[in-house]
Amino acid sequence: MSTRRPGPSTLSIHGLPHRRADWTPVVGPVMQSATFVNPVGSSEEVLYSRYGNNPNQVELARKYALLEGAEAAVILSSGMGATALAHLAVLRPGDHLLASEWIYGGTRRLFDDELGRFGIEVSYVEPTQHRLWRKSVKKSTRAIFVETPTNPTLRVIDLAPIAQVAKEFGLALLVDGTFASPINFRPIEHGADVVISSATKYLNGHSDVIAGAVAGSASFIEEVTRLMRLWGQSIDPHAAWLVERGLRTLAVRMERHNANGLAVAEWAAVQPEFLAVHYPGLPNHPDHTHAAAVLHGFGGMVGLQLRGGVRAAERFLKKLKLITHAPSLAGVESLISEPRLTSHKGMSADARARIGIPDGFLRLSCGIEDAPDIIADLEQALGR
Ligand SMILES: Cc1ncc(COP(=O)(O)O)c(C=O)c1O
Repeated sequence: MSTRRPGPSTLSIHGLPHRRADWTPVVGPVMQSATFVNPVGSSEEVLYSRYGNNPNQVELARKYALLEGAEAAVILSSGMGATALAHLAVLRPGDHLLASEWIYGGTRRLFDDELGRFGIEVSYVEPTQHRLWRKSVKKSTRAIFVETPTNPTLRVIDLAPIAQVAKEFGLALLVDGTFASPINFRPIEHGADVVISSATKYLNGHSDVIAGAVAGSASFIEEVTRLMRLWGQSIDPHAAWLVERGLRTLAVRMERHNANGLAVAEWAAVQPEFLAVHYPGLPNHPDHTHAAAVLHGFGGMVGLQLRGGVRAAERFLKKLKLITHAPSLAGVESLISEPRLTSHKGMSADARARIGIPDGFLRLSCGIEDAPDIIADLEQALGR
């Protein structure tokens, strides 16, 4: 038997390949059951879907761990649930969390509005200022949080110097890798201890489920699972089945998202109506060299800034036909939204501008439609 590790596409379809027993279904059924028959007098752990031990939940977690190259994983009912419980698993009252300031607005609100209530202090670092990470570590610092690529500015953060600081001070490094998916980037291979994903996005890929995932060491995942059981954040079995179904095509979807993202960004970069195009695959992107070295694809997300600010952006959005104006991202269909009104709502315009999101910034999620059709829709919305 070969000891060759299967590739990501094989892993996302089969997990570790194994011979199927005769007459078993090729596609596992949805075990839509809250509870399972328990042997009388047994002291074994009971099967109960809030515990995350329903076969649909277990199978998906196993596959996700393999894809991230982690010892273990747990699937939760949302990406926010994953972020919240991953942090609660490492932080205690009196602890300090050092976070990148270029992060999803919901995560920022969780840190600012909620962690403080548990006596956890959070401070922020501009993530490319490598010396600042070390300088900002306090005696009470327990963990570092980074998102890469960043939502919505598409910066690709170099984890190596941050992982070095984490190692030196014995801190846990947690990375939200939602925008890359484990096909384009596996944070654990770059020094992260924990990977967090909104499975709502590329992992599921069909905009029909809200889900989250955390991967890391077996002992860390055991603690997240313990919290999940108490805080009630497990994923419904049917939702887990849908994510697993989506996961089977993750690698081929990512190939198309990567190709479409690049085609759209290269087209947009030479249109005079755009003031700026943010895409790590463009040679003038500030992280292009690093992104080309660490990513297996630049992804399907593109940041667009039209000349004329909010007014021009709204006129443009109203003319789009194929590309749908809706929050969320990474589904098979192209979606576009304004971070000032969605992912980063609640921040002041100044605070948003400081992290690279001026009013009028558009976040385009290129789906897997035919690239010429996406471009034709953008073109007609420019009034051509
Ligand atoms: C980078 C990132 N992390 C986490 C989340 C939260 O995920 P969910 O909406 O599944 O709770 C999002 C949602 O947009 C996101 O973009």
